[in-house]
Amino acid sequence: MSTLLALESSCDETAVAIIRMSPDEAPQILSSLITSQIQLHREYGGVVPELASRNHTTAVQPLIDTALEEAQLTIHEIDAFAATAGPGLAAALLIGHSYGKGLALAANKPFYGINHMEGHLLSPFIETADAIPPHLGLIVSGGHTMLVDVQGHGNYSLVGKTRDDAAGEAFDKVGKMLNLPYPGGPEIEKMALLGNPKAYNFPRTMLKDPHCDFSFSGLKTAVLYTLDKITDLEKELPDLCASFQQAVIDSLIKKTLRAAEHTGHTLVALSGGVSCNKALVDALAAACKKNKLTLATCPRTYSTDNAAMIAYAGCQAVMNQVDPSELTQEIHPNFPLTS
Ligand code: KG4
Ligand code: ZN
Repeated sequence: MSTLLALESSCDETAVAIIRMSPDEAPQILSSLITSQIQLHREYGGVVPELASRNHTTAVQPLIDTALEEAQLTIHEIDAFAATAGPGLAAALLIGHSYGKGLALAANKPFYGINHMEGHLLSPFIETADAIPPHLGLIVSGGHTMLVDVQGHGNYSLVGKTRDDAAGEAFDKVGKMLNLPYPGGPEIEKMALLGNPKAYNFPRTMLKDPHCDFSFSGLKTAVLYTLDKITDLEKELPDLCASFQQAVIDSLIKKTLRAAEHTGHTLVALSGGVSCNKALVDALAAACKKNKLTLATCPRTYSTDNAAMIAYAGCQAVMNQVDPSELTQEIHPNFPLTS
């Protein structure tokens, strides 16, 4: 049995988690804390890297203290440390990553630099005791949209990705166009509940192409052109949101089914911030059922950025006897998930 403390600071959330792992048992998350800077960045309509960085600096130590208190541990009882090494905003990544390395150095314990996307990818299995099963991972976050062929821990190949905007980015940009608060995703989902998803026929780009890549920038532009013609935005807002959301969902589902067919996987695992969207989860669950696929979803608390998923990925690295990272490891703002 050992404990691992993880830090996540790739964007606008400072997060700390402590996880206890023992072979053949589901990991125990002893603490998972997040301080969100959403309110701070809201007035700028998006994340300001310099502000994010400064706030990570002040938030990180109090968060570690509270996490240790919650887990009823002292820093000396932590057996390993992990932190997000990338991808993300350089100035933001630097804080959590340097802090994690510093703690590991001071305590003479191993350090694991974790890929943020691996954190998301593995998060649907965070409450299970078993090894990571072979599956098709669909990651839908603010910065990435990916379909990943997972053969087991550390064995990942990219099957599809967005060629332009990520799904969450499209939600956020369209939200901004519609004067909704940042981040747009949850706001659009709320508004969409009141609207008709068939009211506007927005494009589902590259749907007929045989590959598994996505494209959402044409959809975003289509919303912009439609907006130009609308005189009463307040009245049309629910229909616009519902129709936009449906176009994103249709694209995600179509390409996921295609990737499942290409890879032969019968297990699909959904993760990332956009997986908080209930309409997406319901539609994907129905499509999987129809196509005799099993869907694993990430617990909602671990869908948006958090440190428990980084701790879990670290835990998997320990259990799979992956070598710890060198303390000379640097952050990697464009850290690819697959080589
Ligand atoms: O995974 P995440 O927390 O951060 C990144 O790694 O990017 O994802 C954040 C993204 C944002 O774009 C946000 O708008 C989106 O997830 N999101 C949603 C919902 N909740 C969060 N998108 C659609 N519907 C939601 N309910
Ligand atoms: Zn993320």
